[in-house]
Amino acid sequence: MKKLLRILFIFSICFFAMECKKSSQEDVVIGVFTSLTGQTATFGQSMNNGIQLAVEEINADGGVLDKPVRTIVEDNQSKSEEAKTSVIKLIQKDNVVALLGEVASARSLAAAPVAQKNKVPMLTPASTNPQVTKVGNYIFRSCFVDDYQGAAMARFAYNDLGLRKVAIFYDAKNDYSVGLFEVFKKSFEGLGGKIVIEQSYFEGDIEFRAPLTAMKALNPDGIYIPGYYTEVGLIARQARELGITVPLLGGDGWDSPKTIEIGGSAVSGSYFSNHYAADDPTPKVQNFIKKYQEKYGQVPDAMAVLGYDAAYMLADAIKRAGSVDREKIRKALAETKNFDGVSGNITMDENRNASKSIVILKVNGKEVKFHKRLPPA
Ligand code: PHE
Repeated sequence: MKKLLRILFIFSICFFAMECKKSSQEDVVIGVFTSLTGQTATFGQSMNNGIQLAVEEINADGGVLDKPVRTIVEDNQSKSEEAKTSVIKLIQKDNVVALLGEVASARSLAAAPVAQKNKVPMLTPASTNPQVTKVGNYIFRSCFVDDYQGAAMARFAYNDLGLRKVAIFYDAKNDYSVGLFEVFKKSFEGLGGKIVIEQSYFEGDIEFRAPLTAMKALNPDGIYIPGYYTEVGLIARQARELGITVPLLGGDGWDSPKTIEIGGSAVSGSYFSNHYAADDPTPKVQNFIKKYQEKYGQVPDAMAVLGYDAAYMLADAIKRAGSVDREKIRKALAETKNFDGVSGNITMDENRNASKSIVILKVNGKEVKFHKRLPPA
């Protein structure tokens, strides 16, 4: 009797294991690679929050191809090398049908050649550097490109704020920062403005007084800082301490609650370009904010919105592909037209980039307020 029970027990375990395997084969498995920890942790956390909210909704609605969507999430600790390693793992070990990530352009640039070589579609919700999608025909983005973001900010600085002499302070080891700096400079000078000084720093720096003092000596009427939130917050503080009162300008890398947490009142009066404004009254935006707040207890930043949209956009492409075949998904992604996202309408152009509107936000005390919307390029 004991023996029989044992056999039965083993039998049921085998059966259970087989069932699990079967059901996992029936999931549509998407690889998510992002920075859940490290220097830009809020980017990855928000992106993943947005993706998980979307996946929950998609699955509640029947999934894709009558199968549930399952994500495998890899944290890269905000490191490029780790981003590459996690994409190798997601492709080789987990056999994902497509990839969502990264936020930071440098990390997307590190991972994209792996995706391209293995012919796995990769959709970055947020990497804006022009080089990212140039890696190849499997690499897509659902956000605007920095050629547009940098030029838009230059026009805003020159035309709307009336600035004529601007200093630039960029992260010399960050592809995104260097790219934005170059576009801004070219556009601002093209309009007749002058870049009075260019200074740089590295991610992780905490002391910026020497370059800021050099900038102050030249009396700029604004400082463009195309960086990420941690350094931006510290730079703003030290700039104000040194008596620099002119507006500070930035890009989407400022988009994190941490910018104000770290920078405090020093960031007030600054402007930055972004993908979305939380005070946009459009019902689609406000509905999303409500759902996100219910689940996570906080107002979503742009990264959360972009993650949410990218997950839906990928699910939409898989549905249209009618298959989890990676080549068919690639083709469907390339054919994305008028996808109605929370962050705007997305149509893929022939270079696998989205052309979307930009918002300029103004920091007012501790609040970030919608200031202006600029139409797609
Ligand atoms: N655009 C930034 C980059 O390419 C990443 C980013 C997007 C950060 C959106 C915040 C919000 O590196």
